[in-house]
Amino acid sequence: MGLLVVNTVHRDMTRWHSANAFLGEKSKYALLLVLLVSVFCASFWSAPVQAEDELNCVLCHKFRGLSRIDEEGNFRLFYINENLFMKGPHKRINCMDCHRDIEKIPHDPAKKVNCTTECHLLEPSGKKKFSHKPVAKILEKSVHGRFDEDGKPKEYQEDYPTCKSCHEQPLYRPLSFFKGVSSGVSRRGLGRCKTCHQTGDFAEDFYNHVTSRLQKTRESKEIVEICAKCHEDPAFQKRHGLDNVVASYKDTYHYKAIRFGSDRTADCVDCHIVYGESVHSVESMDSPTSATYKANIAQTCRNAECHHEAGEGIASYRVHVDYNNKEKNPMEYYMLKFFSGLMAAVLYFFIVVIFLELLRRLFPNFSFNSAERSGHAVTKPTTEGGE
Ligand code: HEC
Ligand code: HEC
Ligand code: HEC
Ligand code: HEC
Ligand code: HEC
Ligand code: HEC
Repeated sequence: MGLLVVNTVHRDMTRWHSANAFLGEKSKYALLLVLLVSVFCASFWSAPVQAEDELNCVLCHKFRGLSRIDEEGNFRLFYINENLFMKGPHKRINCMDCHRDIEKIPHDPAKKVNCTTECHLLEPSGKKKFSHKPVAKILEKSVHGRFDEDGKPKEYQEDYPTCKSCHEQPLYRPLSFFKGVSSGVSRRGLGRCKTCHQTGDFAEDFYNHVTSRLQKTRESKEIVEICAKCHEDPAFQKRHGLDNVVASYKDTYHYKAIRFGSDRTADCVDCHIVYGESVHSVESMDSPTSATYKANIAQTCRNAECHHEAGEGIASYRVHVDYNNKEKNPMEYYMLKFFSGLMAAVLYFFIVVIFLELLRRLFPNFSFNSAERSGHAVTKPTTEGGE
């Protein structure tokens, strides 16, 4: 729904009020009756197609116009694009598994969805009800967790990311969004599954399920944007004493290649996650288990997919160099100043030379000497100059 839910923040609003404005008491009840009857009928007729949608929520939510402006002036869209929903990772989840508090229709203002709720699906390896609790635990332990080691809330709570800070747009991204064609992973492989698994969408679902996890589902550029949402904000940097790591990263070859369409160079996650760990386990560079801890940097660069043939010296490469920060990076600061100066000097020297040359060509007989200008000097034979 992320695509559809533009602003999902505010909950305190009255039900149906946009409809109320136009309807009298009687016609309101008549409409409600018609709606309820059609909900009832439709829930029978469309049951086979809508297995995941037990209360037939889509009956109403399929209308593109289902939206309103809330009390705070925000546009709220309640339209569900069923087509997108059915392509996303949550297609087998009932609306009610996530929207727990919607019990009657018309419904009361909804609470925010809690991503760690258990749903009706069983996770096959442990045969337990599935939930995203394990991800939340990893996130809590990472540098992005809201609590410190002693369990005390960290300062500036609202700066710490929740699931939706990084996953909102779009919540229902199609699975199997292949970044280029990876060997062994293409839609052709699906044909092989279908040899044996012929009924329904089984082959398609599980093929997408597995193959989409074999590679990034977000482009590197998008990952940079996700992290930049907070780390690029000057006020945020000031609150947490951090540098503008996004700007410094964008100066490097890694980002420039990504900008021009490469998916082979490193984005934030590639460097800040220990190779093979969950993408949610970002740690501070001061933590000895971090991918960016001094002693671990070389290993991070030399993972199987990147600089696997490089020597230890690769760790001396610095990604986040702020060339304008004299205190932190004096050498880089003065080098930049020196080379900028050198370049300007060379450039301006030659521009002046070219300009003088141009003048001479435009005015071959020009001279500051008035005697020469009036032509008297021409009688004197010269061996040099030729003009
Ligand atoms: C009879 C039509 C109808 C059905 C069926 C229906 N809804 Fe709604 N729903 C609406 C309308 C209309 C709104 C917008 C209400 C408003 O503007 O205040 C809405 C709003 C919502 C909201 C946002 C509410 C808020 O306050 O943030 C959620 C979430 C929601 N519906 C979920 C569901 C779920 C889940 C189901 C199925 C269990 C469902 N709806 C079934 C008509 C319906
Ligand atoms: C995997 C969990 C999940 C499932 C399944 C799910 N939703 Fe949602 N839905 C969310 C989240 C998260 C939001 C964003 C708002 C929030 O944080 O509560 C949302 C927002 C909405 C909104 C807009 C509410 C607003 O505040 O603007 C509507 C309407 C809605 N969902 C209806 C549905 C319907 C209908 C279905 C079934 C087809 C469904 N949802 C299935 C998680 C889910
Ligand atoms: C700081 C940003 C951030 C936060 C916060 C975050 N995620 Fe993620 N998540 C990501 C990124 C980046 C990916 C990898 C996407 C890719 O590879 O295409 C990801 C991937 C995932 C995946 C796919 C499996 C995987 O590990 O690749 C799931 C499931 C997931 N996140 C759930 C959650 C849940 C639940 C929360 C909240 C408890 C959460 N995420 C919070 C950034 C975040
Ligand atoms: C040669 C026939 C054959 C092919 C090809 C095949 N499968 Fe299977 N698959 C089976 C059989 C038989 C089982 C049940 C075997 C078992 O439980 O040990 C199974 C089990 C599964 C299961 C576990 C189902 C469950 O609920 O336990 C999944 C998921 C699956 N296959 C997906 C795939 C995918 C995806 C492909 C294609 C990449 C594929 N299969 C290709 C025959 C095949
Ligand atoms: C919602 C805001 C938000 C988003 C999005 C976000 N971060 Fe952070 N990040 C923070 C906060 C808050 C801290 C803690 C700063 C502190 O220690 O005071 C932090 C700290 C960090 C640190 C540790 C800095 C240190 O202390 O050494 C790293 C590394 C980091 N983030 C990387 C990332 C990456 C990579 C992404 C994208 C996947 C990302 N962040 C997305 C808010 C965010
Ligand atoms: C090529 C690898 C690489 C990439 C890509 C990368 N980083 Fe870093 N990052 C590092 C290393 C190594 C350090 C620790 C040493 C240093 O600061 O040079 C670091 C340090 C940091 C710090 C802590 C700096 C401080 O002042 O405490 C933050 C925050 C951070 N990175 C965030 C990000 C974000 C956000 C992105 C993406 C926009 C990103 N990094 C991209 C390798 C990388």
